[in-house]
Amino acid sequence: MVKVAILGFGTVGQGVAEVLSMNAEGIAARSGTEITVKYILDIRDFPESPFADRVIHDFDIIANDPEVEIVVETIGGQRFAYPYTVKALSAGKSVITSNKELVAERGEELLALARANGVNYLFEAAVGGGIPLIRPLMQCLSANEVTDITGILNGTTNYILTRMKTAGVSFADALKEAQANGYAEADPTADIEGHDACRKICILADLSYGHKISPAAVYTEGITGLSAQDMHFADQAGYAVKLLGRVQRRADGRVNILVAPHLVPGDRMIANVNDVFNGISVRGNAVDEVVFYGRGAGKLPTASAVVADVIDAAKNRGIDRSARWVDDAPDFANNANDMIYRHYVRLSGCTALQVTKQFPDAVLVSESAQCVEFTTAPEKTGEVLAKLDMLSAEGAHRQSLLRILDEMN
Ligand code: HSE
Repeated sequence: MVKVAILGFGTVGQGVAEVLSMNAEGIAARSGTEITVKYILDIRDFPESPFADRVIHDFDIIANDPEVEIVVETIGGQRFAYPYTVKALSAGKSVITSNKELVAERGEELLALARANGVNYLFEAAVGGGIPLIRPLMQCLSANEVTDITGILNGTTNYILTRMKTAGVSFADALKEAQANGYAEADPTADIEGHDACRKICILADLSYGHKISPAAVYTEGITGLSAQDMHFADQAGYAVKLLGRVQRRADGRVNILVAPHLVPGDRMIANVNDVFNGISVRGNAVDEVVFYGRGAGKLPTASAVVADVIDAAKNRGIDRSARWVDDAPDFANNANDMIYRHYVRLSGCTALQVTKQFPDAVLVSESAQCVEFTTAPEKTGEVLAKLDMLSAEGAHRQSLLRILDEMN
């Protein structure tokens, strides 16, 4: 029998206890051993929960109990999750987590600590919720050089964008729905400002390239700057607006990486990934393109991935199943402005004539007394920004700049 402790009894922690109990028989058969929850650590009590009798408030009880072999960390953030993870790994317990912030910020350190202690640090649930993604990248796609990863990595923002587009729900109400469904972070700023997606694309890049990319080094733009006119243009022109995390291998061996809203042509698979679903396209130099799709957030889908890791750790005690990357190349991630796109631009305070002087290959979408809308030819975002600077010196104001996900980029 393997005994587990769950740290943090929020949405995901409760889902983990529920899945372990709901599917106990099959899990035991697939693990070769029974897996039971011995402790649940939280500052709160849960008198109504069927697991009320396992709730404790002192982490040291878990750290000092040799019967606990696996610790599930579903606290989130770093403040408590980091020291508890360090203590658990140091005490020779495998740690399973859904904590993207901790993995993105300190994964290399915790993976090394796990290895030094002969245990595992696993985080399938940290990216893509219930979608099998980390293990396929580490195993099934490991023969490839990964050239590009492009993904809808945040369920909350995808849910908001879908509800706004298909049901005319306001941004604020759609966010409230996402929170009520248990999709959003404790502080949903991390969702809507793109930080959650940033942590996830960093983890995918760390895994794929072996070098840590710090989230702070990544250009990150969320969905709060999107306007009704942006959504209107997208609708009219047959695009879906999607918050994408992207990492692309450069010819010099480094990577370009960013998180930003994109205009995705309606016939692209990723344009049709809606609601809380995530969709991640991975391109490898042998496999070409593989697309992963599924629920990117929510109690049971996320618990599905966490419990799969628990089973893996239980089956493979003493065997190294963890990923590895190192923090050895601070300039490995290059500037997102080097990525080549067509861009949708909306400017006020200038004419189409002024625009075509700076952008001779621009395709004009509309011109009115209020603004000029156009799309650029494929060029580096940095070059577009330089031209827009010239136009702003002539009195233009940028209302919008969105990247278009064409097939070739
Ligand atoms: N807040 C996250 C999301 C949860 O909406 O995708 C899953 O990581």
